[in-house]
Formats: sequence, C-alpha cells, structure tokens
Amino acid sequence: MTKPAVNGPAGKCPADFDFFSQQTLNCPYEFYKVLQEQAPVYLLPGTNIFMVTRYSDIKKILKNTQTFSNNFTEQLKGPEPDPEVTAIYASAWQPVDTLITADPPRHRTYRTLVNKVFNASRVNAMEDYMRTIVHELIDNFIERGECDFIREFTTPLPVYVIADQLGVPRSEVKDFKNWSDSFARRLSQMATPEEQVEDAENIVAFQFYFAEMCDRRRKDPRDDMITDLVNTEIECPDTGEMRALNMEELQSLLQQLMVAGNETTTSAITGGMVSLIQNPQQMRDLQEHPELIPNAVEEILRMETPSSGLWRVVKKDAEIEGVHIPQGSLLMLRYHAANRDRDLFQQPNDLDIARENANDHIAFGQGIHFCPGAMLARKEMNVAFCALLSRLTNMQVDEEKSDLSYWPNIVLRGIKELHLTFNKR
Ligand code: HEM
Repeated sequence: MTKPAVNGPAGKCPADFDFFSQQTLNCPYEFYKVLQEQAPVYLLPGTNIFMVTRYSDIKKILKNTQTFSNNFTEQLKGPEPDPEVTAIYASAWQPVDTLITADPPRHRTYRTLVNKVFNASRVNAMEDYMRTIVHELIDNFIERGECDFIREFTTPLPVYVIADQLGVPRSEVKDFKNWSDSFARRLSQMATPEEQVEDAENIVAFQFYFAEMCDRRRKDPRDDMITDLVNTEIECPDTGEMRALNMEELQSLLQQLMVAGNETTTSAITGGMVSLIQNPQQMRDLQEHPELIPNAVEEILRMETPSSGLWRVVKKDAEIEGVHIPQGSLLMLRYHAANRDRDLFQQPNDLDIARENANDHIAFGQGIHFCPGAMLARKEMNVAFCALLSRLTNMQVDEEKSDLSYWPNIVLRGIKELHLTFNKR
C-alpha cells in the first residue's frame, strides 16, 4: 500500500530505485529515506520480498518470532544450481539449522552453548592479546607510510582472533579468507555460475578441514573453542536426550562463527576509517581524546551496519504499516536503513562521534538472535582504533589504488579496496 510520491527527495518514489543495482548498493540513503517516508514496507518489484526500513517496525518484528521466522534456508535456495555444484555439496555434510536459521525452541539449545563459549570473562581476558595482534599488524607496514588497509589490517585482525579462539594454527589461516568469502557470497545469492562452483569447492574444503580438526581435538583436547564444542553435551532438540554435537551441527556452528565474525568486523573497521578520514576534525578529536573511542565505535557501527539486512520468513499472514504480507513471503529487515531512521537519529547520514544515542543502533540485531559476537567485535574495534590513532596520523585515502564502492551483496556490506597513506605519529 504505497503512498503517492509526494514527500520524497526531489519528488522521487520507490520505483525510481533498483535495490539490487550497484548504484543503490553504493549509496542507498536517498532510497531509504523515500521508503521510510512513503513505503516503509515495500514489495521489491518482481520478487516476494518485502523490505522493511523503519526502526520501530523492525524492532517489533524481531520480537515476534512466532510469525517471523529465521528459518529462511528453503526460501533462499533459488533456482536449482548446476549439477556440478550440487555434486560438490553432496560430497560433504548437509546443512542443519542451528543458530541464524533456527527458531525457538530449537534455537535455544545451540544459543545456550554459544553463549557459554563467548562468555564475558573469556572476551575480557582477550584485550591484551588483541592489542598484541593489532600492534604487530601495524608494525608490518608503518615504516612504508602506506598500506593496503583491508589486506594488511582489517582482514587479518578478526581472522587471527577467531582462528586463535577456535584453535586453528596461524600457519593454516591462509585459506580462511577464501572460505569465508565464499560463505558470504553464497548467503547473498548473487554469485555467477562460475563463482558458485568456486564457492562450493571452498565450502567443502572448509568442512573437511574442520572435520579433521574436530577429530584431532577429541583425541588431544586443548584450551580452545573447538575442544569445548566437541566435548560438550546438548539436549537433543528432537529427542530431549543429552548427547554430543554431531558433525553436521559442529559444521554449522563453526561456519557461522567464522563467517559472521570476519566480514562484518573487517567492514566495520574499514568503513569507520573512511568516515574518519572524511571527517578530519573528528579524527583529530579522537586522537586527542581517546576516551571518546568507545562512543565513536558505536557511531561507526550505526553508520556502517555491516550486516546491512537480514531475512525473516512470514509464517502466517501479517500486517505491518497497513500492508498485508501473505504467509510464505520473505522480509528483508534493513538494519542499515533503520540505523539511519530520522525518527531516532538526527542528521543520520553525518558521522557524529559524540552522538548521545549512538548506542541505540541495531547493527547487532536484537532479540533472541542478537549477535553473540557483539562483545568480541566491539573490543576488536576499540583496540584497533586506539592503536591506529595513537601510531598513525594524517591518514589519507590513496585514490588511485582504492575502490570505495561496495561488494555486490545485499546482506553483508563492505568496501572493496582501501589503500591508505599516513605519517608516523
Ligand atoms: C561488527 C561485527 C559484527 C556485526 C555487525 C554483526 C551483526 C550481527 C547481526 C545483525 C546478527 C543478527 C542476525 C539476525 O537478526 O538474524 C548477528 C548474529 C550472529 N553473529 Fe554477529 N556480527 C558481528 C560480529 C560477530 C562476531 C565477531 C561473531 C563471532 C565470532 C558473530 C557471530 C554471530 C552469530 C553466530 C550470529 C547468529 C546468532 C543467532 O542466530 O542466535 N558476529 N550478528
């Protein structure tokens, strides 16, 4: 039930935008504003996807897990993949719903487990160790006065942290990025046929690697998350009996811990650095007053929202903002738009590191699926910006080498290439 296009910027209406185009992905803000004003629940043309952009609507939907389900695997299957792709996946473990695609009560079994693994004392105890990683990464490029920021800093940081936590040796970390990229691309459903084959091969390679790793940890336990996961018992969601996690469940949890934590943290720090470069006075304020960094991190999370949108499946007919949503439809909850909703955030497209309500963002979602890695990601971001701002100054984007456009992905939002020049501080 779209209102007439009377209030949009320059008289625009939703149909003037193509959500899936590179242009809109790069700069969706005008589109979000038009939607929030005219069609807060918008059926994307040619699809059964309703995009929800208002903060208040998204918060309501997140609370109602009976009507709005996370079990979106079937809906996203898309057209039958090439037989080559199907055969590759068939050679390994099949997906099961554990966290992100599980609904209550099943979700609770796995979530309790992950909450135990990601407890506050474990994450707090990691601060010094994170600082060591961050300084080592900076040491590797600081003398050059320039760096490939994504490859040399924002990608390795979360990969090293999660790999160390899982117990993967540094020497074996090199394939992580490829695997992680393939998971992310598969989630977005925007891969070409050739990329689908590449992704299937990477995902299966990941599975075999971790299956072997789980076997090793069963025989030779260590103080790491994989050891915790293989040795723990859960109440089986189907039978209620206590038992160990099976390999499908282990694969599902490990995949999510790896993918969810890597791309997102990389994109948050990368995008945050670009925003600060574009706002040099705020960069200077942070350098002079590092105590402002925690709030700046929240503001960066609000602005970047690396998990830019997540799916929900409509389990029974529903109505939001007067729009009838039939059972079986897909919702795209646009967290990125909600975090720029003028009803809550003034001048939402401006970075304001002192914004009083920056922390009201929903970059980590809300409700039962609230990101279990939020504490870890926040700590990584704080430690990273503290070290970068204390050791580097006069940061600039190397325009010739950088590409500040975004990857073609509607679920995970990240800048493609960022090369920096700087002076030592
Ligand atoms: C800046 C970094 C991060 C952002 C922006 C982010 C964002 C999110 C969001 C929005 C959700 C909720 C999804 C939904 O509504 O369905 C989520 C869930 C999740 N995140 Fe994160 N995340 C980040 C870092 C991490 C890290 C470091 C980890 C783990 C190492 C992690 C693991 C997960 C998992 C496993 C879930 C699923 C939880 C569930 O369904 O119960 N995330 N994340």
